[in-house]
Amino acid sequence: MFPLTASFGGIVALCLGLLPSLFIQHVLSLQQAQLVQQSEQLRNFAILNGILAADDKDYTCSASKKCKLGCCGSVDKTTGKGFCGLGPDFCGEGCLSTCNEKSECDPGWGTEWSNASACPLNVCCSKFGFCGTSVDFCGGKTVPSPQCRAGKSADQKLIGYYEGWNLQRPCGTMKAEDIPLGRYTHINFAFALIHPLTFQVAPMDKDTASLYKRVTALKNRQVGLEVWIAIGGWAMNDPGIYRTAFSDMAKSEVKQDLFFESLISFMLRHSFDGVDLDWEYPVAPDRGGIPEDFDNLVNLLARLRKRLNETGRKFGLTITLPASYWYLRGFNIIKIEPYLDWFNIMTYDIHGVWDRNVKSLGPYAFAHTNLTEIQMGLELLWRNNINPGRVVMGLGFYGRSFTMKDPDCMEPGCEFIDGAKGGECTGTPGVLSAHEIVQIIKNGATVKTDEAAAVNIVTWDTNQWVSWDDAHTLKRKLDYANAHCLGGTMVWAIDLDDGTLLEALGSGMSTPKRPVVEELPTMVYDFETPWFNDNFTE
Ligand SMILES: *[C@@H]1O[C@H](CO)[C@@H](O)[C@H](O)[C@H]1NC(C)=O
Ligand SMILES: *[C@@H]1O[C@H](CO)[C@@H](O)[C@H](O)[C@H]1NC(C)=O
Ligand SMILES: *[C@@H]1O[C@H](CO)[C@@H](O)[C@H](O)[C@H]1NC(C)=O
Repeated sequence: MFPLTASFGGIVALCLGLLPSLFIQHVLSLQQAQLVQQSEQLRNFAILNGILAADDKDYTCSASKKCKLGCCGSVDKTTGKGFCGLGPDFCGEGCLSTCNEKSECDPGWGTEWSNASACPLNVCCSKFGFCGTSVDFCGGKTVPSPQCRAGKSADQKLIGYYEGWNLQRPCGTMKAEDIPLGRYTHINFAFALIHPLTFQVAPMDKDTASLYKRVTALKNRQVGLEVWIAIGGWAMNDPGIYRTAFSDMAKSEVKQDLFFESLISFMLRHSFDGVDLDWEYPVAPDRGGIPEDFDNLVNLLARLRKRLNETGRKFGLTITLPASYWYLRGFNIIKIEPYLDWFNIMTYDIHGVWDRNVKSLGPYAFAHTNLTEIQMGLELLWRNNINPGRVVMGLGFYGRSFTMKDPDCMEPGCEFIDGAKGGECTGTPGVLSAHEIVQIIKNGATVKTDEAAAVNIVTWDTNQWVSWDDAHTLKRKLDYANAHCLGGTMVWAIDLDDGTLLEALGSGMSTPKRPVVEELPTMVYDFETPWFNDNFTE
């Protein structure tokens, strides 16, 4: 569940000096500034969609030199040179080449010039026909967030993901029996997978599978605790045999049914209370997705909800959502909302080492849980009238880290060359657990709180940089969730903390800590699962 997030709508800085001077000397049908803005959006879209290389700064064209994206219009008659753009001004009368190109959305010039009338997720259509959320696309239009002054809604639910593979780390591990209880209302066990041929629930590996029952047994120690199975995760859709399993299963009702029956017996067998589908991501070609995923996911969830109801049990059903427009547009959030108990929105990993490959961002260090950007992610939901009570906001018990280029430039926005060195226990460059960051601070790091972003920036060893959340910034985020009527918070992940962050987060809630039975009962009685009774009466 480490999504590669590409914040769309960032504008590529365009060097005005590169515009050919002949253009400036001639009076064209469009205002010069408009043409520049148009070119920027065209170029940004083309780069993000892999049509143009990032360093391709030429968007002039002629009868023989075709546009890589857009129509060759706005032509200077004396030189025969034009500019690439969309809509009637470029594709209509006077267009020189590639005149059938259509814009992403229709800013009002008519659907004959556009691929679609509106933008995905109700984001703004700029006057040049491109979709985005920044001021260049929306002008002065803003999105109102739900308001619940002095609200307490988010205190009702605290979901913790538990990494079933965490015991494979050399240190900083957490056995199932050591999961701190009393604060979490739900534990989501991460992960199980979908077998790419049989479409049955498949374990990640034997060791992870051996923990299912040990985690669900915690329900005996905290009344009302629910333990759900999370299926999927970021790595499942990496290149490999599992990559298209979600997509293939969603495409066929026969395969959906194979998955449903397997899932239900799996949940009954291991005493899970619900399922959280972490498909990362439908439709996204870079994640094994196809366009049909958009509708197939609606069908999958409608049918799964119905099938779960038929069991007569109260199985829960949720999915995780990315917080970026780039990936969220693959979800038909309006249509799927009614089938879900809630959405878990992954409002973390907003920045990381992958930014250097995102053409509109580049190798600049920013915090991965910036509240300003979290709000921008949530606004994608409010644009679509999603019920905030059905939205659970993600919090990170870990940091995203960088090795900075220049030890004299350690502020957010300074250049990085790589992830920071891997931690002693987590061992992966670019990420550090809360447990490890606490240790780094104890050893004498510099900690700065950025109040506007509600994050901490920790720097050490001259060029090491990590952003993370402590008790104070977690409280800021919890307050935000309450003030905007959200249904709860979730954390990735229980085992990355030594219990300190959880206690800090929980103690800031209006809900009291739930009573915990310390000793594990010697026998787990489960009279509802049929084959348990069978074994028992033998
Ligand atoms: C419009 O649709 C065509 C065909 O699907 C596609 O190739 C093109 O990239 C789209 N253009 C934009 C600007 O979205
Ligand atoms: C499933 O059950 C819930 C709770 O009883 C109900 O609100 C929902 O409409 C049912 N959904 C389907 C698809 O049967
Ligand atoms: C937080 O996000 C805003 C808006 O993108 C940005 O201006 C600011 O620099 C970010 N702060 C940090 C610490 O990343």
